[in-house]
Amino acid sequence: MAKQPLQLFIKKQVQTDLYKKTGLEKTLTAFSLTTMGIGAIVGSGIFITPGLIAANYTGPSVMLSYVIAVVVCAMAALCYSEFSSTIPLAGSAYTYVYAVFGEFVAWILGWALISEYLFAVSSVAVSWSSYFQNLMGGFGIKLPAFLQAAAGTAGVKGGGIDIVALLITMLVAALLSKGIRESARINNIMVIVKILVILLFIAIAIFYVEPSNYRPFLPFGTHGVFKGAAVAFYAYIGFDAVSTASEEVKNPKRNMPIGIISSLLVAAVLYIGLSAVLVGVVHYTKLGVADPVAFALNLIHQDWAAGVISFGAIVGMTTVLIVMSYGGTRLLFAISRDGLLPASLKKLHPRTHVPVANTWIFGIVASIFAAFIPIDKIAELVNIGTLSAFAMVSLGIVFLRHDERFKDMDTSFKVPWYPVLPIASFLACVYLMTQLQPFTWEAFGVWVVLGLIVYVSYGYHHSRVRRETATD
Ligand code: ALA
Repeated sequence: MAKQPLQLFIKKQVQTDLYKKTGLEKTLTAFSLTTMGIGAIVGSGIFITPGLIAANYTGPSVMLSYVIAVVVCAMAALCYSEFSSTIPLAGSAYTYVYAVFGEFVAWILGWALISEYLFAVSSVAVSWSSYFQNLMGGFGIKLPAFLQAAAGTAGVKGGGIDIVALLITMLVAALLSKGIRESARINNIMVIVKILVILLFIAIAIFYVEPSNYRPFLPFGTHGVFKGAAVAFYAYIGFDAVSTASEEVKNPKRNMPIGIISSLLVAAVLYIGLSAVLVGVVHYTKLGVADPVAFALNLIHQDWAAGVISFGAIVGMTTVLIVMSYGGTRLLFAISRDGLLPASLKKLHPRTHVPVANTWIFGIVASIFAAFIPIDKIAELVNIGTLSAFAMVSLGIVFLRHDERFKDMDTSFKVPWYPVLPIASFLACVYLMTQLQPFTWEAFGVWVVLGLIVYVSYGYHHSRVRRETATD
């Protein structure tokens, strides 16, 4: 390989890794990947955001925002699928970019993805906590204000620490540290419950739809629909977590694309159906509440269903926590295996083959964010890391196709309409990034600078790829 200045853009030789036994067990099928995907995708994005999007950005046309967001995600998902069937290694976009763009870009992207997973887990834990506390409130159980939410949370006076969010994140870490097989089985049951409660909502509420609620259809214009799409995007985040599991999948070349795309499609159908019915039942001006789905059912006097659905929402968000935590730990594993983070993060338990220390470290950091940072601040940060990853993966396909090293690799999945689709996907992701708040860009800038410090002081000196290339 040609030596580059400082070797910052040194590329990962994935062919060698593909045939190396890594120690992770291959237990996942296309079906378990699909349930894992739905588990990761459908969470607070459906139980909280459709009401907020309708009230603030779109009015009754909220489903159009979900349609636009899923088109962007589907394009990125196809690019993910080509990468994950060409390079089925743990680490997802990070590994793909390492192979195609080299170490420095991979590190920046890996660091951005760490923020996606950490903040996604923390934000969903906080939503979980608010639904849980509401449900417990129905039984007269209430925590002191100091323990209800982080200090500075809107609507909570005297907040200090979100103890429920902290505990649920730690509980998920405990579950994952026991091993993937157990976690996947529990995840499957929870996914079924989640789909059933969404269908239950649609089946009951559809009979209470008032056609007049759909007028005017575009009160904020088409501009609002695109702003809404940037927010709705949050609801689809998670399918990329599936590709982080590729080392634990049987026949990844066939099963990865099926798992990623089918989970995204199921989620889209549920979201579009639920939001279309929601704005038909409740006038959009009344939907700016924390639990719009339960709110709509209370309004039509279906209180029993509201309770069942709140319970389902809690279950649904639990699966998001499990899969996103899983994705985060496997990403840390992949980065650590490359020497860019300390070796303790790649150490597997001899019996369960789970990276135990890594799982606990991820859980503890996510639980600290969840306990002490208000939800609006955390949620803002999830989308930007993800969109930057999707943009790079989309562009990466163009480079992948031109890379001589991958010409002979047998890939079973190719992005259709090449090169239009990957380029359109890249541009769409960048466009959605421009719709995010200045605060998000500033915070992301700080995160990236932190990442650079870690790379310069640790990763650059411990890189396995650089070491192996030097001794070749
Ligand atoms: N897509 C995930 C959710 O909606 C982040 O909870």
